Amino acid sequence: MAEPKILIVDDELVVIKSAERVLRSEGYDIEGALGGREAIMKIEQKSYDLVFTDLKMPEVDGITLIRWIKKSKPSIGIVIITGYPSQDTIKEALELGIIDYVPKPFTPSVLLDVTERAVEWTKGIKPEEQKVAEEFPPAMDAELERVIYDYRKKPGCLIPVLQRAQEIVGYLPPVVQRKISKGLNIPVAEVHSVVSFYSFFTMKPRGDHNIRVCLGTACYVKGIEGVVSKIKETLKIGIGDTTENRKFSLEGVRCLGACGLAPVMVIDQDTYGAMSPKKAMGIISQYDPALAEAATSEEAEEEMAEKEG
Ligand code: FES
Repeated sequence: MAEPKILIVDDELVVIKSAERVLRSEGYDIEGALGGREAIMKIEQKSYDLVFTDLKMPEVDGITLIRWIKKSKPSIGIVIITGYPSQDTIKEALELGIIDYVPKPFTPSVLLDVTERAVEWTKGIKPEEQKVAEEFPPAMDAELERVIYDYRKKPGCLIPVLQRAQEIVGYLPPVVQRKISKGLNIPVAEVHSVVSFYSFFTMKPRGDHNIRVCLGTACYVKGIEGVVSKIKETLKIGIGDTTENRKFSLEGVRCLGACGLAPVMVIDQDTYGAMSPKKAMGIISQYDPALAEAATSEEAEEEMAEKEG
């Protein structure tokens, strides 16, 4: 089968261009449309397998476009790619049957991950089955099914099932939410509301280790900003992102309740106080041997440069 044709719809040219750059480098057949109106014109003239669309656009917005596609060209798979949509809009998009969601700004790895899944969808593999086939090992899917089965008749079962699902899968993408909705016979919109309401649920994949940096006042005053910049620069991620190799996720929180130790960083369940940029990176390196190695050779280089200087 030829590579699927993908149409990227956004009212910002820069978003179209960066998505094009990432996806073309992997050999995908990409075109762009500046807004919903242009997208409809293009879809009427040419066939596409996938449409990646922003939601908030002037004139014809994303939801209107999705409704039109679902009615006129139901075989096209849809992915939303958007910044800060309202939960209601996301809920509506999920109910309309989108394949997945890419948060904006996106990293190349997230965009490529979602694209791969969406492409599988176009090849006739339904997301649930495809997850089992590729992303979720069969044992993981079987475990998810078992949890849903065990809880399905218990009152108030949604939150415990979501917690277990997040433990099993690592995060709660739309495909998992739909599976839980179906298994527990709860509307997908309700499942999604609960996932969005509680901060301990995440729709984005997290790394093996979750780094939380405190952005509260006490930590700010004691210099957490420098620590955060160093982590961002070294791991090449922003707050809310996960590294390309899925080793680390970085999260900013209001107060970790350990102000006396400010500035504070927590990795998984371990709390570290009195952080400096160097100390923080030393600790983070202990969670990743490759990072530790890179830090050691960097230090050796610095030492040598100092001696030579
Ligand atoms: S402000 Fe950072 S722990 Fe309280």
